Amino acid sequence: MNVMSRPVALDVSAIRAQFPILSETVRGKPLVFLDSAASAQKPRAVIDAMVWAMEHQYANVHRGLHWMSERTTESYEGTRDLVASLINARDRHEIVFTGNSTGAINLVAHSYGRGMMKPGQAVVISAMEHHSNIVPWQMLRDAHGIELRVAPITDAGELDFAAFEDLLRDGRVGLVSITHMSNVLGTYTPAERIVAVAHAYGAKVLFDGSQAIVHRRVDVQALNADFYVFTGHKLYGPTGIGVLWGRRELLDAMPPFLGGGDMIGSVTYERSTWAQVPHKFEAGTPAILESIGLGAAIRWVQDIGYDAIAAHEASLTDHALARIGGVAGVNVIGRAQDRGGVVSFTVDGAHAHDVATLLDRQGIAVRAGHHCAEPLMRRLGLDSTARASFGVYTTHEEIDALATALVRVREFFA
Ligand SMILES: Cc1ncc(COP(=O)(O)O)c(C=O)c1O
Repeated sequence: MNVMSRPVALDVSAIRAQFPILSETVRGKPLVFLDSAASAQKPRAVIDAMVWAMEHQYANVHRGLHWMSERTTESYEGTRDLVASLINARDRHEIVFTGNSTGAINLVAHSYGRGMMKPGQAVVISAMEHHSNIVPWQMLRDAHGIELRVAPITDAGELDFAAFEDLLRDGRVGLVSITHMSNVLGTYTPAERIVAVAHAYGAKVLFDGSQAIVHRRVDVQALNADFYVFTGHKLYGPTGIGVLWGRRELLDAMPPFLGGGDMIGSVTYERSTWAQVPHKFEAGTPAILESIGLGAAIRWVQDIGYDAIAAHEASLTDHALARIGGVAGVNVIGRAQDRGGVVSFTVDGAHAHDVATLLDRQGIAVRAGHHCAEPLMRRLGLDSTARASFGVYTTHEEIDALATALVRVREFFA
């Protein structure tokens, strides 16, 4: 983040006041919640929108001719418009609701992978993927004869771009499916460059934006990607709803993944026809209340604005790298130039689980483990890390509290 272009600083206290949970205490201490990359806390606007819908306006969508169903359908479809505006999609029909990012990637693996890729073609992922962007492709490989290729990363934790391009040279890659921001290293991948090179070799590109969209404005048209996925619960919304954005012409050509109600044109015992996109991919009663919560979350994020969010989080990350990295015996993992608000670390002589447990005793919540990225851990020569991750409500003082607590952890293990 260019400091010169920083907008007016966020009023973090005013933001925190909108999160009821942040006034909780844990073990008698104020909660220091540094685990937002796993799932973000929810602002009052999201909580209220969901409760209001349950109390005043709830019915199933798309099927009723009555007032309640019509209003609820308007809210559900309204969130589709909000998502389209959030990521600057050309067409609201390009927004498909899924259960989460995992559901969205599996949809593409089944529908695009099995339906439109040919055995012998390859999928390229990177060495810093979440399991949800590894396992679906292994399943596709085993069921459909697709080759899975892994682009390496450098020791700094950045995509090895030359090696990535080498994997594309034979022209057999049908899809690059890659994280936009690593949930372990914080690294942003060079998205525009990835798309340019992949398209030059005839491959489509899917970005796993589960982390990136929380911290940075995403414009799918500017990115020129083919698919972009994210999950609502990390973006201050509820669990149970995620998004697949895909280019209209691809979604139109792709076969449905799940069959059932809502996704059909007509059904006889002999055959069924499919609804238009996005409904073709939304079988069954969708996550109605969750869509209302996600809509509220998007409005809330847009009201704050990505410039302010990105500036605040860049400042938090710089502070964390200096403070955590400055504690003797604490090692920050990953030194990417372009990075977001996730800082993984190890502590000499202590297992990450023990570190997290001792931090928890001091009221500080971090995540510890392999972060659903076991192959990345192996690449790093580690079995686990502790991870502090930040949201728009995180303060510099909380990071100071973590650094102070880490000194105590070190003393304990010494
Ligand atoms: C980079 C990344 N991809 C995918 C996911 C999966 O998200 P979900 O469990 O909501 O599908 C996560 C969640 O931790 C993530 O961090």
